Amino acid sequence: MKPSLKDNVLRELIATSQSGEVISGQNLAIKYSVSRNAIWKTIKALQADGYAIIAGKNRGYILEGNYDILSREDISARLADKVVTDIGIFVHDEIDSTNSEAKRLLTDGICEPFLVVADSQTAGRGRFGRSFYSPPGTGVYMTLVVSPEIETNAPVTITAAAAVAVCRVVKKLTGKEVQIKWVNDIFFGARKICGILTEAVADMETGTFKHIIIGIGINLNTEDFPPELSDIAGSVGDSKLSRSELISEVTTQLLGLIENIQNNSFIDEYRERSCVVGKEIEFYKNGEKLSAFASDIDVSGGLVVTFSDGTTDILRSGEVSVRVTQG
Ligand code: BTN
Repeated sequence: MKPSLKDNVLRELIATSQSGEVISGQNLAIKYSVSRNAIWKTIKALQADGYAIIAGKNRGYILEGNYDILSREDISARLADKVVTDIGIFVHDEIDSTNSEAKRLLTDGICEPFLVVADSQTAGRGRFGRSFYSPPGTGVYMTLVVSPEIETNAPVTITAAAAVAVCRVVKKLTGKEVQIKWVNDIFFGARKICGILTEAVADMETGTFKHIIIGIGINLNTEDFPPELSDIAGSVGDSKLSRSELISEVTTQLLGLIENIQNNSFIDEYRERSCVVGKEIEFYKNGEKLSAFASDIDVSGGLVVTFSDGTTDILRSGEVSVRVTQG
């Protein structure tokens, strides 16, 4: 999508506010070949959206303070030029589920890559038919739709790439180290702060996926969880961080990883961040509860497990829990 003047001006203001500079109306007018009046009107429109833009006399414009404005313009202003021109961005105040909306957009013929984001979800979906708690104002609920040419056994690889992208971004923006519980949960300490739901539309003839729908939910500053989640759910906890920044960074990281998905170079990072590898675990297979040692993550993100009789298996889907030993 071609950036609008508002997108471009916001992009300049965000860049200069990060470097502590000011930018003059005249320079903006020259750069985008518009009148100074057009720039002034754009600044007014951004101020009306809630941006604290100060216009100093003969000093140009400065974007001040920390803010959390979830908008298409803000997300797009933070994406690299190359990404912005490629990607469709759909932002909602409230939606049932960003993954469900992404599927509706695909049915309507919208081309990937595209991003669906919401301030809140009324029917946020988790894995295995669970719901994902999605209150307004405090979390990131995003779905990225792509069409990489990968073989049909690879959804676990995409989910692993999404988990690595989230970990990298949380570290970059907050300094916090988070860990991955195979395959799709991100933990900060003992608390789950992010879940990933990857869905796919397969092309049965070619054995590839036509569309991959990657839904990511991050509890950024959510505090009051419903009772059934209060023992396990937690938040990143960074009130200065803007959700638009988090979303644009995760999008950039994830698109980069997907572009090179065939070489699986991020799997080492996934393994290092795993809080399951090296532990005794339990999981269900064909309805039977099994115990094993989680020995490794394979090149496509599968969990390699070793049973007490020395035999091994590779899990490509499902859920595991770390066994708590007594004493
Ligand atoms: C899980 O923990 O089981 C996965 C949770 C995935 C939640 C995200 S929020 C954005 C996207 N839309 C949904 O309805 N679900 C995913």
